[in-house]
Amino acid sequence: MTIIVTGGAGFIGSNFVYHMLEKYSDYKIVCVDCLTYAGNLSTLEGALENPNFKFYKTNICDREEIYKIFEDEKPNIVVNFAAESHVDRSIDNPEVFLKTNILGTQVLMDACRKYGIDRYHQVSTDEVYGDLPLDRPELFFTEETPIHTSSPYSSSKAGADLLVLAYHRTYGLPVTISRCSNNYGPYHFPEKLIPLMIANALNEKPLPVYGKGENVRDWLYVKDHCKAIDLIIHKGRVGEVYNVGGHNEMANIDIVKLICQKLGKSEDLITYVADRKGHDMRYAIDPTKIHRELGWLPETKFKDGIDLTIKWYLENREWWETIISGEYQSYYDKMYKNR
Ligand code: NAD
Ligand code: DAU
Repeated sequence: MTIIVTGGAGFIGSNFVYHMLEKYSDYKIVCVDCLTYAGNLSTLEGALENPNFKFYKTNICDREEIYKIFEDEKPNIVVNFAAESHVDRSIDNPEVFLKTNILGTQVLMDACRKYGIDRYHQVSTDEVYGDLPLDRPELFFTEETPIHTSSPYSSSKAGADLLVLAYHRTYGLPVTISRCSNNYGPYHFPEKLIPLMIANALNEKPLPVYGKGENVRDWLYVKDHCKAIDLIIHKGRVGEVYNVGGHNEMANIDIVKLICQKLGKSEDLITYVADRKGHDMRYAIDPTKIHRELGWLPETKFKDGIDLTIKWYLENREWWETIISGEYQSYYDKMYKNR
């Protein structure tokens, strides 16, 4: 069994690579990643030593190179994590989001059609459903919830999802899609809420909370997401969408206060800043389908997952300090200076 994992040098993709190498000692895992600012080869240090692992520094939009990889590796399954993933960056500059997230997906699926494949899996997001109001806690996203996007990022992910379903219906490509809520855990890039707050708090820097901090996200420990994808690619029904979420809704401000408390830092570091444009209010996934069909349930409770995550950031300072000492600084100044 050979699995191509695109975007495997990023946050969720790398956790998936480690999960698969550990669980399936007879699988070959081929990572394809062009190492954007969000991809980091040091994240894959442990995998690069494994003879069952191979890495290609390749852009998924590069049709010629992607076809060559398919010809050489003859994958049975492709799991596409490769994407531009940060909402704030998409608001600043949408173009690369459309290129990678939509056109890159098309190249991968064309390669699947040309060389044959048992399964193409698209890693999507709950953001394709738009948002829910705070005063209707009984509402959740199901797989039937209409697509209704807010940001260039979520629109590009929704565009890709529609294309994936079209390739299934039109060409019979054996596809599945997972739409997951917010992940947290090791190797999370420090531009995202939880790792950014941990890094800033440790450095006694202001903790920038958008708006009033009342927006709600449904947080899932990254390893539970990886287990869900593992189940879907092996047992999920072709042509289906599966929602993945932890039933773990929390307001941003409560997360930030919890991080202050866990690190013994003052809440005076919290700074309310201008809101994100088009900011989604609440995400909440109904994961009934994946539970009923595949038996998946989140295994890590938030109270344990956040402790594991904070411990990881304390024990792996070099990983994130190297990141925030580089070009991240100019990103951070641009994004937060006049907020
Ligand atoms: P990430 O930004 O941490 O990693 C993305 C990876 O893709 C990086 O290694 C980057 O180098 C690579 N990449 C980007 N453009 C590429 C290209 N053109 N060619 C090849 N490689 C490229 O992202 P993440 O948070 O790990 O998210 C992975 C996937 O999961 C994305 O598709 C995202 O939409 C989806 N998702 C993320 C979350 C979350 O909470 N982070 C939740 C649900 C779904
Ligand atoms: O729901 C899944 C999505 O979760 C994924 O599809 C995206 O790839 C992933 O980035 C994430 O999107 P969010 O926009 O929800 O994540 P982010 O960490 O950027 O922000 C989480 C919340 O915290 C959001 O309401 C905005 C807020 N926030 C974020 C940052 C970076 C702040 O208040 N301050 C900040 O500095």
